[in-house]
Amino acid sequence: MEKAIKVMTVFGTRPEAIKMAPLVLKLKNDNRFEEITVVTAQHRQMLDQVLNVFKIKPSYDFDIMSKSQSLSSITNKVLTGMDDAIEQEHPDIVLVHGDTTTSFSAGLSSFYHKIPLGHVEAGLRTWDKYSPYPEEMNRQMVDDLADLYFAPTTRSKDNLVKENHPVHNIFVTGNTAIDALRETVRDNYNHDVLQKINPNHRIILVTMHRRENQGKPMERVFKAIKEVVDGIPDIEIIYPVHLSPRVEKLAHEILGNDPRIHLIKPLDVVDFHNLIKRSYFIMTDSGGVQEEAPSLNKPVLVLRNTTERPEGVASGALKLIGTEPDNVRKEMLELLTDKLEYHIMSEASNPYGDGKASDRIINAIAYYFDPDHNPRPDDFAGVL
Ligand code: UD1
Ligand code: UDP
Repeated sequence: MEKAIKVMTVFGTRPEAIKMAPLVLKLKNDNRFEEITVVTAQHRQMLDQVLNVFKIKPSYDFDIMSKSQSLSSITNKVLTGMDDAIEQEHPDIVLVHGDTTTSFSAGLSSFYHKIPLGHVEAGLRTWDKYSPYPEEMNRQMVDDLADLYFAPTTRSKDNLVKENHPVHNIFVTGNTAIDALRETVRDNYNHDVLQKINPNHRIILVTMHRRENQGKPMERVFKAIKEVVDGIPDIEIIYPVHLSPRVEKLAHEILGNDPRIHLIKPLDVVDFHNLIKRSYFIMTDSGGVQEEAPSLNKPVLVLRNTTERPEGVASGALKLIGTEPDNVRKEMLELLTDKLEYHIMSEASNPYGDGKASDRIINAIAYYFDPDHNPRPDDFAGVL
């Protein structure tokens, strides 16, 4: 047998872990590959939740997280850790995901070591340097460093083509988030927080964490949510609060001590996906949640002014509502009262994947290294 392709998979935060886990598991079970899992632990508890769910044991754990960490401290520590891991392992390829500072720094390190870099979830763009911050620049820089591009949709491929990235090395794969959803959602699901909720009430699931929303925008959104809850008796909020100290403080100050607002610790991904399924709609500034909720037929009010996920807006599943309180109140009330709008948003098609993204990615890697023995995988033919 030919020598296995040594793939070093690097991730550090919750969303990267959730979206890389299906790929890591596929790589480990395919004898064309030898997989080395490296975690930076830019997140600690929220990363470990995902590693436990998917039973992934990393070979390297840089354990870098510190309280209210700065972007430069993350970058420095990841670069140092990667020097060691790459020098020990000499991988054939490094894979990173999306737009975090872990992904940018690990990508930069792989370039410094002249190791080919594969970018999972390549080509997303808002074209606004500070929105989301620092993610928009992180993903542009990772795409500049990359050799192989796994674009989730045709639109993300088009963005890369416009920037003159080599078209032959761009593969449209669908998003691995949808692969993960296939494993997590169950019919007979229950959770402690559901026991506390009146079964006749509608659940609104909230998450909010982005750096550019911390401070005033977040404060305004939380106050608007609180007013709507006060005015409408048959709704309850579930908000698993991100562990970022700035977010935790504000959420508890404004939304704490209300019997119909349930502030809870971050959920593991199985719980979170199942709670999406049981919610009436979602309010979020998260990237990943914008992809997951439409595939579970749940409308999403996006608490941002821009999105790199325009497919969901075009399909009608997502609505960009920003953070101005009047607008947040208006949009919540509309979705709670206008049955037609609710129906249109919840029935919109899911443009983000068919659950086979990881298969396409590993087949594309095999093709890249040995095109004579591995066919080029077909592109994901998603809509929009
Ligand atoms: C990071 C990513 C963001 C991603 C988000 C997903 C960057 C710059 N930001 O933002 O793109 O959307 O993760 O959640 O890469 N903390 C804990 N425990 C944890 C996780 C975080 O205590 O398990 C606290 C720490 O005090 C940490 C702070 O949260 O310093 C912020 O974490 P950080 O990764 O810097 O930023 P996020 O907002 O989580
Ligand atoms: N998620 C989770 N538990 C939670 C909230 C979110 O597992 O309490 C999952 C969610 O299903 C999605 C991912 O975390 O897959 C999104 O992560 P986050 O919002 O932190 O980051 P982003 O996607 O914005 O980068």
